[in-house]
Amino acid sequence: MKIFLDTASLKEIREAAALGLVDGVTTNPSLLAKESGEPEEILVEICKTVDGPISAEVVATDAEGMVREGHHWASLHKNIVVKCPCTAEGLKATRVLSSEGHRVNMTLVFSPSQALLTAKAGASFVSPFVGRLDDISTPGMELVADILQIYRNYSFRCEVLAASLRHPLHVVEAAKAGAHIGTMPMSVFQSLLKHPLTDIGLKRFLDDWEKAKKELGAKAPR
Ligand code: G3P
Repeated sequence: MKIFLDTASLKEIREAAALGLVDGVTTNPSLLAKESGEPEEILVEICKTVDGPISAEVVATDAEGMVREGHHWASLHKNIVVKCPCTAEGLKATRVLSSEGHRVNMTLVFSPSQALLTAKAGASFVSPFVGRLDDISTPGMELVADILQIYRNYSFRCEVLAASLRHPLHVVEAAKAGAHIGTMPMSVFQSLLKHPLTDIGLKRFLDDWEKAKKELGAKAPR
């Protein structure tokens, strides 16, 4: 499964990218609004930091405006993927942008039927929001599995990008379901690695090594 970071923070992106494990980045208007600086400049810097798909979302609500904004985002860098909301206008814009050769990530997807329309419109990525469905007592991960089944049935090439992942178990479940991509905040990315037994085990190995070295040193001829 490809790992995307769900943030517009360059500090976080640089830190995670240094591990060599970040395949792409998803931003949205809420995430960009949290950062200081011009969104265009931030997006270009993100593209220079991570050589993979970088989602930039339109804020227009009509198809014509979305296409116009999509052209603007796509002109910034080859890595940019245009994010459109899953509305009738968003589907129209997706059809236009994808037929022009632009990659579209359809966001705010909450049902299998929306995902079916997304693939038919030519989107490259579909973003089911797992955590936000869980928030309303609807199992978000079932949506991911349903979309994967539908796409497999018809060999749609649209990649399933599990979004709104809130904790490491969401990431594991998305991977078990076979999602192509999981996008997650930095805190979730960091928690994928953490295990107390790793820290305890490493400390014990190093302590034993130091102890053995000291004992050897004491026995060594002067
Ligand atoms: O990728 C979409 C994501 O930003 C939404 O996450 O946690 O606000 O539901 P969340």
